[in-house]
Amino acid sequence: MRLETERLILRPWQERDRAPLAAVLGDPEVRRFYPSVLTPEQAGAQLDFAMQKTAEVGFHFGAAEVKATGQFVGLIGLGYIPDETRAAIRGNPAVEIGWQFDKAFWGQGLAPEGALAWLDYGFGTLGLDEIVAFTFRGNVPSQRVMEKIGMVRDPDADFEHPRLAQGHPLRSHVVYRITRPV
Ligand SMILES: CC(C)(COP(=O)(O)OP(=O)(O)OC[C@H]1O[C@@H](n2cnc3c(N)ncnc32)[C@H](O)[C@@H]1OP(=O)(O)O)[C@@H](O)C(=O)NCCC(=O)NCCS
Repeated sequence: MRLETERLILRPWQERDRAPLAAVLGDPEVRRFYPSVLTPEQAGAQLDFAMQKTAEVGFHFGAAEVKATGQFVGLIGLGYIPDETRAAIRGNPAVEIGWQFDKAFWGQGLAPEGALAWLDYGFGTLGLDEIVAFTFRGNVPSQRVMEKIGMVRDPDADFEHPRLAQGHPLRSHVVYRITRPV
């Protein structure tokens, strides 16, 4: 999997991504709608998991870099939703799209640009029927990306994230959906 957009290259993980990925996932501002920042070890384990998943099922969240400079931008892509989470979402969807970018690159429309390429890949090359996205109810920037790429909020699918304890302030999630264009 290697995708190109006007400004981005979207590609599988490489060993050289470990430090910049750890910096993004260790940044409290990037992670403000997550229960915690990740340690470098946890970020590395996430990269290992993505590599393993890609080898097993053919795709998983990957890296984004600036085409013109090679700078690391963040992670973006499609992934199978863990069973416990998908069971909590109306319709039991299989695949989600998601993104976490270095804040130095926010506000330039790069996440929607990369996400549209991933949607094309999901519906075209992978032949998926539906892709969903979900996030904490208060994560407006992420919901703006979902809207910009044509996803539609499904209020009936709002759910409490099963991996967060009851009463956790980030537990309430909203769901956006998009189906394969006819
Ligand atoms: C969500 C995210 C990937 C958006 O990426 P992006 O490339 O900045 O996307 P856009 O440029 O299209 O901006 C989307 C929205 O982000 C917000 N935004 C833009 N620049 C911002 C900045 N500097 N600071 C805070 N929010 C900003 C705005 O709400 C914007 O919507 P608008 O264009 O209607 O004003 C990025 O904000 C991010 O990495 N956030 C932290 C990780 C995260 O929450 N991931 C999603 C988990 S489900």
